[in-house]
Amino acid sequence: MAAQKERRLADSGEVPPGYVFEQFRVERGCLGYVVADEKSRRAAIVDPELEMVEPMLDFVFEQGLKPFYIVDTHTHADHFSGARELKAKTVAKIVMHEEAPSSAVDIKVEDGDRLWLGEDLPLKFLHTPGHAKDLISVLLPGRILTADALLIDSCGRTDLPNGNATRQYHTLYYVMGSLPDELLVYPGHDYEGRSYSVLGDEKETNPKMNFSSEDEFVRYMEEENPGTLTPVYQLADALKANMA
Ligand SMILES: [Fe+2]
Repeated sequence: MAAQKERRLADSGEVPPGYVFEQFRVERGCLGYVVADEKSRRAAIVDPELEMVEPMLDFVFEQGLKPFYIVDTHTHADHFSGARELKAKTVAKIVMHEEAPSSAVDIKVEDGDRLWLGEDLPLKFLHTPGHAKDLISVLLPGRILTADALLIDSCGRTDLPNGNATRQYHTLYYVMGSLPDELLVYPGHDYEGRSYSVLGDEKETNPKMNFSSEDEFVRYMEEENPGTLTPVYQLADALKANMA
């Protein structure tokens, strides 16, 4: 299905407006991003997993970018954030949702807030809780970085600390459901090596976006889904480090 989605995108000739956009991937399937304005060279680094810090910095310096913001989309429970390390090596400020507990946050945002990298390049933050209560998706021209709120053909689990299946339903069916179909979806994880999909296709074929009622969705996420997932080995350590 992923190949089909990617092919359709290529055929459609849709290319988001020009700005620097680079995806980073580590072995476990975590995805991070660097977004920058072509003219001002101001950059935002989104969801730097610890192992991405060096490759991201190499990219930033090779491209002559100026890191302004480090966006952690939520308090990650399953891997270590590289935000603090990046902050120590750059002058960028850490951006998170206002409910994030970390003391390293410089700029707290709420639903609808924007930060600008250039005249035509806003980062608009949408509060999309469910996987975590402090989860923000980042809306860019032509693209949305959905973290664990919306994955390709799936969505993030809601059974970890700060997860909530009812909020997740609202996020998928009302927030994501009302965004334009042509947006390209760039998730925070993909375990099958895919890079992106198209929101209209997710609305049509993503099983998590096609439950017939809120009750059924919540029951599935709370009772059946956890049994299908692998245990999170670093949970306590990762949460403690990322919340500090
Ligand atoms: Fe997560």
